[in-house]
Amino acid sequence: MKNGARFAFHDLAPGEESFRDAVLAGLERAPKRIPCKFFYDARGSALFEEICRLPEYYPTRTEVVILEENSMGPHCRVIEFGSGASQKIRILLQALERPAAYVPVDISREHLRDAAIGLAEDFPSVPVVAVCADYTRPFPLPPLPGAGGKRVGFFPGSTIGNFEPDAAVAFLANYAHILGPKGEMLIGVDLKKETDILEAAYNDRAGVTAAFNLNLLERVNRELDGDLDIDRFEHLAFYSSAEGRVEIYIRSLAHQTAQIAGRRFRFAKDELVHTEYSYKYSVDEFRVLAARAGFRPVDTWTDPGELFSVHYFRLR
Ligand code: TRP
Repeated sequence: MKNGARFAFHDLAPGEESFRDAVLAGLERAPKRIPCKFFYDARGSALFEEICRLPEYYPTRTEVVILEENSMGPHCRVIEFGSGASQKIRILLQALERPAAYVPVDISREHLRDAAIGLAEDFPSVPVVAVCADYTRPFPLPPLPGAGGKRVGFFPGSTIGNFEPDAAVAFLANYAHILGPKGEMLIGVDLKKETDILEAAYNDRAGVTAAFNLNLLERVNRELDGDLDIDRFEHLAFYSSAEGRVEIYIRSLAHQTAQIAGRRFRFAKDELVHTEYSYKYSVDEFRVLAARAGFRPVDTWTDPGELFSVHYFRLR
């Protein structure tokens, strides 16, 4: 580690659901599903970075501009669940006045360590306290530097939209519990808007989103000794205004069978494998949802085109 970096690592030894167990169980179900947390292997992460630069995919660039213009005051201690390799924290740390600590929390030990060390080196004035934990459950936060500074959760990228609403409330309630009294929260939420704009964002012309979604099947072939015929599946994404969400599936183009980890699975023609929902919320709808987890709005920022929102909440 470079000189001057301030870094600590706390390993709470979380258990992790294996890709194998999730795929075998998910393909036994009707309807079939593969959980979206498995999108992000090395290839999937690279494709997702490409998605973030697509002309049709407005969320990332819009959120970045909003974060650059934030105002949350000095000495924040920022706690990020699912920090991954996230670049957005860099933008936030640059925009904040004298941040007092950065606390990335992730279940993926080695990625967390690498990303946190890189960050500590690039921001030598900010102590980094990495915590390896399953943040979907309660866990104790270690003592943090910068006593007296406020604890601010940071959950960008509209990842909250990938939970169903009741699960989103449960996730936020757990976040609230871990932040503790007077905790604050900065959270990125994609806004409801015209169907055309939403559907284009998940069906880009270059086909990167399709490749990203189908990479789940490639990953099954690579890691689980599968023989899925990727050419006989296609990416499907559409906006359901009744549900207020983009629904993302992989569709089987033929009646077919495949072998995965020594087991045989059948896919009917046009059968869908669900991979993700991406819920969209108006500012008011999201405030109502967050209130169920105890958060009160302090401020909400949007871009001039009203594509994306960043909510700033405080616990009551
Ligand atoms: N969480 C992101 C979102 O909901 C991820 C994402 C972007 C995504 N494009 C996708 C997930 C396509 C599955 C398929 O916007």
